[in-house]
Amino acid sequence: MAIEAWVMEENEEDQRLPHKKNPNEPVPLSKLQEVGVLYWHLDPENHENNEELKKIRENRGYSYMDYLDLCPEKVENYEQKLKNFYTEHIHADEEIRYCLEGSGYFDVRDKDDKWIRIWIKAGDMIVLPAGIYHRFTLDTSNYVNLMRLFVGEPVWTAYNRPQEDHPSRQGYINNFVKNSGIALQAH
Ligand SMILES: [Fe+2]
Repeated sequence: MAIEAWVMEENEEDQRLPHKKNPNEPVPLSKLQEVGVLYWHLDPENHENNEELKKIRENRGYSYMDYLDLCPEKVENYEQKLKNFYTEHIHADEEIRYCLEGSGYFDVRDKDDKWIRIWIKAGDMIVLPAGIYHRFTLDTSNYVNLMRLFVGEPVWTAYNRPQEDHPSRQGYINNFVKNSGIALQAH
């Protein structure tokens, strides 16, 4: 199963709407890989004993795991939280999410600084590299259950844009923007 992503139509409409251009401009997985995004489709029903998930965790050192259940009934100040998630930021580490139920959008900046919207549904697991500008929102279903993974003790600190001098931003630029030819060969 392929992940669905597209170039965002930027306007003032509700962030939970799809924001597709007319006509739609789909973004293939290869383009997501160029900006450093990793993707797997796993079985969302059997995540406790999922062998593929175990292998990914072992290979990438994702020792920490918890769950994030987001919907208006369970989250205090839901509308405010939504706005916070949607503030453009980076992290010093990867952002790793595996969608077990529901759906939502991860928006990442491409090399031309345009927003690419990635639609995460049950079974989709993505890794955003450290230093990539991104944001998250639920969609109009207003429900998502995410597994969060991390290497070691989790640090969820978000650094809002601009962060051009942040070491993880500089690392990201070196890995995926300046030397994109080399990064591509490595895939
Ligand atoms: Fe984030």
